[in-house]
Amino acid sequence: MDKLIILGGRPLNGTIRLSGSKNATLPILMASLLTEEPIRLSNVPRLGDVRTALALLATLGVAHRWLGDHELELCAEQIVSHDAPYHLVKTMRASFVVLGPLLARVRKARVATPGGCAIGARPVNLHVAGIRALGARVQLRHGYFEAHADRLTGTRIWLDTPSVGATENILMAAVLARGRTVIENAAREPEVCDLAGMLVAMGAQIRGAGSHVIVIDGVERLHGTQHRIITDRIEAASMMVAAAITGGSLLIRDTPAEHLEAVIAKLREAGVSVAPEDGGMRVAAPRPLQPVELRTLPYPGFPTDLQAQMMALLAKAEGTSVINETVFENRFMHAPELCRMGADIVIKGPTAIVRGVARLSGAPVMATDLRASMGLVLAGLAAEGETHISRVYHLDRGYEALERKLAGAGAEIERVKDGSAE
Ligand code: UD1
Repeated sequence: MDKLIILGGRPLNGTIRLSGSKNATLPILMASLLTEEPIRLSNVPRLGDVRTALALLATLGVAHRWLGDHELELCAEQIVSHDAPYHLVKTMRASFVVLGPLLARVRKARVATPGGCAIGARPVNLHVAGIRALGARVQLRHGYFEAHADRLTGTRIWLDTPSVGATENILMAAVLARGRTVIENAAREPEVCDLAGMLVAMGAQIRGAGSHVIVIDGVERLHGTQHRIITDRIEAASMMVAAAITGGSLLIRDTPAEHLEAVIAKLREAGVSVAPEDGGMRVAAPRPLQPVELRTLPYPGFPTDLQAQMMALLAKAEGTSVINETVFENRFMHAPELCRMGADIVIKGPTAIVRGVARLSGAPVMATDLRASMGLVLAGLAAEGETHISRVYHLDRGYEALERKLAGAGAEIERVKDGSAE
């Protein structure tokens, strides 16, 4: 297994180019199941999770070929299996969103239950309730949801929580259903809008994506299309923190600032300067960082996927910050690792109290999930001395060319085989 070694204390300076959004790409790849015609995608990030999604789609009969570094063609001419196996669903929970498109296209699906993960229980009850409401018979047998339907029928579905995955699953089931489906309390994330935009380009009739109520009028069939994936807002904001935490100055090209309002507001409150420049955003922290209070929320609130990175930043602020995690119940696994680097963080239930310290010091650390790993990378960039981050595969799942991008801005960062540099 690889690990990263970072020699901290180098201010990052230069320009960062962002990749396509991981969380937009994954459901969009699954949407290829909805038509027998080719789909052509651009700005597709080359990530571990994208490889997992393509492996899953291949087992279902979806052929793909890369046409360029970030351009991909998919074709689901014939669905040869309706079975999403456990080893792929447990590796990547987003695999569960094949349930809706498979049911819509071939009227049956057998999808492994994902189980819990490092950041919480993460149930799929809302996905399943929505699919049932559309008329599918769903049974849990031997760890798999087995679903059948003649043709799904539109209905009103109220989501208890605006779940991103449940909204996407139900949306993809509803586009080929008979009649009208209304998803109330739908997720409003930009990635849901990107999926809806692509489905509309395939011939679907969808209104209201990006609002709390999405209205879908089912159509008989969908056709092929071309689509460009939106820029990754989580990568963009992670890079903003990289500039701020190292006391550098980065120009982040094509920053999707309209998707980052809550984040930019919090960064500014912490004393970070974020200003439009040259088709991107210039980010720097000219003054000492100030403490802030923040709570994670569904979009357009502060994203849970940036909580670990923000905690790393606030660990160096002048004063005490309070972070309230309201989306996932167990998403503070990075806090004890940050404490090993000299941070002063106390966790009380869903709240983290972060007392800023003057300096962090490099240490061997490991993370249990993708965004937590990024929090540790950021802390390592700012720390004195060497930080060794193991389990780099988490980062490879969701950050494209991370070392290359950071090294290009002056970071001292190297990937080695675990065990070889201890
Ligand atoms: C997606 C993102 C993930 C992000 C999360 C929240 C992808 C591939 N992943 O995950 O990076 O952290 O949104 O922004 O897009 N819930 C239920 N029942 C369900 C489904 C969800 O109770 O059936 C709960 C979850 O436990 C969690 C909350 O709803 O507390 C939000 O989860 P959800 O929006 O579904 O996250 P994902 O789609 O899994």
